[in-house]
Amino acid sequence: MNKKVVLSGVQPSGSLTIGNYLGAIQNFSKLQEDYECIYAIADLHSITVPQVAKDLRRRTYEVLALYMACNVDPEKSTIFVQSHVPEHLELSWVLSSISYMGQLSRMTQFKDKAKKSEENLNAALFTYPVLMAADILLYQTDFVPVGEDQRQHLELARDLAIRFNSKYSETFKVPDNLIRKETGKIYSLKDPSVKMSKSSEDENSYILMLDDPKTIERKIKRAVTDSDAHFCYSDDQPGLKNLINIYQAFSNESVEDIVKQYEGESYGPFKKDLAEIIIESLKPIQDEYSRLINDKAFLEEVMAKGASKASYLANKTIRKVYRKVGFVQI
Ligand code: TYM
Repeated sequence: MNKKVVLSGVQPSGSLTIGNYLGAIQNFSKLQEDYECIYAIADLHSITVPQVAKDLRRRTYEVLALYMACNVDPEKSTIFVQSHVPEHLELSWVLSSISYMGQLSRMTQFKDKAKKSEENLNAALFTYPVLMAADILLYQTDFVPVGEDQRQHLELARDLAIRFNSKYSETFKVPDNLIRKETGKIYSLKDPSVKMSKSSEDENSYILMLDDPKTIERKIKRAVTDSDAHFCYSDDQPGLKNLINIYQAFSNESVEDIVKQYEGESYGPFKKDLAEIIIESLKPIQDEYSRLINDKAFLEEVMAKGASKASYLANKTIRKVYRKVGFVQI
């Protein structure tokens, strides 16, 4: 019996944070045991905001090394660089012909980014969710493990699959999201009303997967908790709630057990232990990353194998799509 297909992607547009890890990447290696997993390094998406070419190239290797350091195994999963498989762009064009301007202009991420980059309001920023839908639909994906911020984009992918199927006959699977409840949205350490983001200007608002122990200790120490010094897990104390979610995700202890353990104490010991848990959890990943990032030849071999596996699958779908829309095949 064929396994169900899982697909996800990460942009190589900055150093990855523990938000990327807990919201998505941590789950990738678990899923590869039961599903046919396909993980993209979404470099085509990255150029929707200005990039320095050599940094983008370097970060592409970095994301690949991080995927593998997080136990994504290229023998079990397909790991590839999006720009190596041009079918993504081909399907994106076809899907844009059935995408409505109205729906795209309602995408919250587009509206946020448009506000921040008025002088660079390029067309790719607008059509970004169509390319993401193409990434997903090309592989007949069943499940997409992502953070909460991608929910609306995934809805669009579903809408486009349904619209295409009803216009041209059954072609695409309609994918479901896999968004984790506690860690689908990890918030900024400085402002628990916004998500932790690698593009934030305040470096104390996020923890990078490659931060050293001293930096992690400092950032956790400075993380905002609430003036109410009562230790509990509540929406009224979003700063503390976010830290407990991070603790829970790294330690695998339940929220109830964590609250019991620190009830009645000041935040100091909790923060000290939290920093320790993050440091210990990231250490094996960082060690493996350091080993892999120096082996460029191996990383390129993985990229090449991944591109050829992904291309084979993507080509099957694009041929079907081209036939259905009426392009002549020779
Ligand atoms: P990107 O590169 O911004 O983020 C990668 C993954 O990390 C999740 N994430 C978070 N999860 C929890 N808390 C946070 N603070 C947090 N910040 C980021 C994101 O939800 C994402 O799962 N468009 C995508 C990349 C992409 C993609 C795809 C994903 C391209 N094609 C196809 C799935 C399927 C993006 O920009 O993710």
